[in-house]
Amino acid sequence: MTTKQIQAIRGMNDVLPDQAHPWEFFEDTVRDWLRVYGYRNLRTPILERTELFVRSIGAATDIVEKEMYTFVDELNGENLALRPEGTASCVRAVIEHNLLYGGPQRLWYWGPMFRHERPQKGRYRQFHQVGVEALGFPGPDIDAEHLVMCARLWRALGLDGVELDLNTLGDAECRARYRQRLVKYLERHEARLDADSKRRLGTNPLRVLDSKNPELAGIIAGAPKLVDDLDESSLKSFEELQALLREAGVGFRINPRLVRGLDYYNGAVYEWVSDRLGAQNAVCAGGRYDGLVEQIGGKPAPACGFAIGVERLLALIRDYARAVPRVPDVYLVRQGAEAERYGARVAERLRDGGLSVLLHCGGGSFKSQMRRADASGARFAVIVGDDEAAANVVSVKPLREAGQQARASIGEAIDLMKKGVSSE
Ligand code: HAM
Repeated sequence: MTTKQIQAIRGMNDVLPDQAHPWEFFEDTVRDWLRVYGYRNLRTPILERTELFVRSIGAATDIVEKEMYTFVDELNGENLALRPEGTASCVRAVIEHNLLYGGPQRLWYWGPMFRHERPQKGRYRQFHQVGVEALGFPGPDIDAEHLVMCARLWRALGLDGVELDLNTLGDAECRARYRQRLVKYLERHEARLDADSKRRLGTNPLRVLDSKNPELAGIIAGAPKLVDDLDESSLKSFEELQALLREAGVGFRINPRLVRGLDYYNGAVYEWVSDRLGAQNAVCAGGRYDGLVEQIGGKPAPACGFAIGVERLLALIRDYARAVPRVPDVYLVRQGAEAERYGARVAERLRDGGLSVLLHCGGGSFKSQMRRADASGARFAVIVGDDEAAANVVSVKPLREAGQQARASIGEAIDLMKKGVSSE
């Protein structure tokens, strides 16, 4: 009888070692990118109180209504949720630790997020985001900074065809005015709406505009436009933002239907989309959320930010030439009782010297160890037998290029191999 295998949860993926180097390449690029803009890293827990997301993302949103992983902690009865996004946690932490007393904050985070959506290409139940948030800045200069940053990252990663859709949602009052007009219009067409849109009409009518149902395209195209209800200061700020983007050479198109699926937004919102991603075409999205800090208990402070969907972004990178798989510099082959002990010490010395070393473990013939050395991708085999151990030396054999095996002291071997490795 064989024991039944346990498999990963649907929509939650393993990244296997052979698939990991694009992730590592991306992580390295992202760290450099954030450093040159002066953003500082914030790490928050994956679990938060459910209430945090209900209050920030909004009770009538898809995320809160049907996609959150929530449960009651049996030990103390608390209602908890796996975070579906990072902005709410970031704002909570900023308030809880009074970070805004030190002045405005430029922050970033990275990590897994969880949404119980129907899995498909580009849509997972556990996915990863790199999020960037700026708190305490009224904009639109900082909003422009975020969009310029994104454009720089796409260039650094060699992405093409990622386009920027931009809209403004105005302030809460003009949105309320618009909502009324939109509801009146949609009620006139209620008979032709699908079930989802009928439900949204009562809870979150702006989201009807987001519907992907082609049968609703005509109704959506004829709907009143938010721009006609905008207050003057939102309009002015939006125009300034557009001027800053033009000046920086960041192309965009205004998309009056872009409303975003989270309730905390106001003012400028955007999505970076690619037609190479299929239905899930947004690779990065964000905008301004000036009311959120106050809404979850802080002193009012303007804020804005964005998050990149890492899986979608990795799917867009065509040129992985620079994402070279990481191979060790050295595979250490050791044979003989004394050589076993000596070899382990040599490996540590080589690492002290700055080389990465795979130490052969598990015994086996010299031939089988050399086969492993070859398969590891290492540039050099360092071979130690009882002879080398007695003489306190090693034998170095280049594996990827012509060259003789040579005996050397450990110090000489380090110099020799580092020259070989750095001349790559
Ligand atoms: P969001 O639009 O919900 O915004 O998510 C941002 C990005 O995360 C999306 O554009 C997409 O690339 C990726 N994403 C979302 N859901 C999934 C999924 N199920 N599978 C794969 N990728 C996904 C936010 O989360 C906001 N917190 C962004 C923000 C930050 N706004 C202001 N600051």
